[in-house]
Amino acid sequence: MAGDKKFIIGNWKMNLNIHEASLYLHKLSGLVKNRRDVEVILAPTTLALQTLSLQVNPRQFKLAVQNFYWRDQGPYTGEVSATQLRGVVQYALVGHSERRHIFHETDKDVRNKVAAAIRNGIRPILCIGETAWEHSSGETQDVLYDQLNGGLANITSDELDQVIIAYEPVWAISAGQGSEPVDVSPSEVAEAVKAIRRQISHLFGKSAADSIKVLYGGSVTPSSVAEYLNIDGINGLLVGAASLNAITFNEIIKKAHDKNR
Ligand code: PGA
Repeated sequence: MAGDKKFIIGNWKMNLNIHEASLYLHKLSGLVKNRRDVEVILAPTTLALQTLSLQVNPRQFKLAVQNFYWRDQGPYTGEVSATQLRGVVQYALVGHSERRHIFHETDKDVRNKVAAAIRNGIRPILCIGETAWEHSSGETQDVLYDQLNGGLANITSDELDQVIIAYEPVWAISAGQGSEPVDVSPSEVAEAVKAIRRQISHLFGKSAADSIKVLYGGSVTPSSVAEYLNIDGINGLLVGAASLNAITFNEIIKKAHDKNR
C-alpha cells in the first residue's frame, strides 16, 4: 500500500571484512537520502557491528545481526548473545534458511532466538520459506504454517508487535556470486503472504495478522523491486547478493521510496 513504511534489509552474509564494511557504509551514506518512509537495515558480519554502530547515523540506517545464541550469558564458547548485542543492533535475523539448512537450526532454536531477541529489546526478523522439493511437492503452505508455529510458540500477542516475518523461498535465494537470480512469480509470493497472514490470524487474531510486517526475499534486484513491493501485504524486501554493491543497493532503496510516493 502506498504511504506504508517499507523495510529494506541488506544481508551481507559472510562477505566484507571490517574495513570493507566501514567503507561500504561511508559510500552508502553518501548515496542514500534520509527517508522516513523506508527503514534501511544493514546486516554485516558480526565482527563489523561494533565499528558500524559507532559510524552509522541511526536516523539513516539501522543495524541487524545475522545470527546469535539464545542464552543471555554463560559457558558457550564462541557464541554471542542478544544481551551482548543490546545497544549495538536494533534488529536480528532469525532462522535464515542458511542457518536452518547448513547449520541445522531447528524450530526450537528459532523460537528460543525469537524470544531472546525480544527479551533484549531487539526486533527479530523471522525468516521462513520452503525448499525446492517442498515447493514442487505442493507443501509450501504446510511448511510456512509449521515454521510460524515453531518460531512464534514462545511469545505473546503483545510481543508479536516486535516481530517481522521474511518469506524467502529457499530455492529462490542466490547461493552466491555468479548464481543466476531466480524470479519467483508475484502471484506465488502473494499466495504465500496470504497463507502467512492466515496463520498469524489463527495464532494471534485478525488484528495481529493485519498489522504484522511481512517481507519478501530471494534474488531481489533493482529490476524486481517494484513487482514485489506491489504485492498486496508485502511490507519490504530482504536483499542478499544485490545489497553487496552500494550503488545497486541504493537503487533498490530509491525504488522502494518511489513506490511510496
Ligand atoms: P539473495 O539472498 O538476495 O542473494 O537471494 C537473500 C537472503 O538470503 O536473505
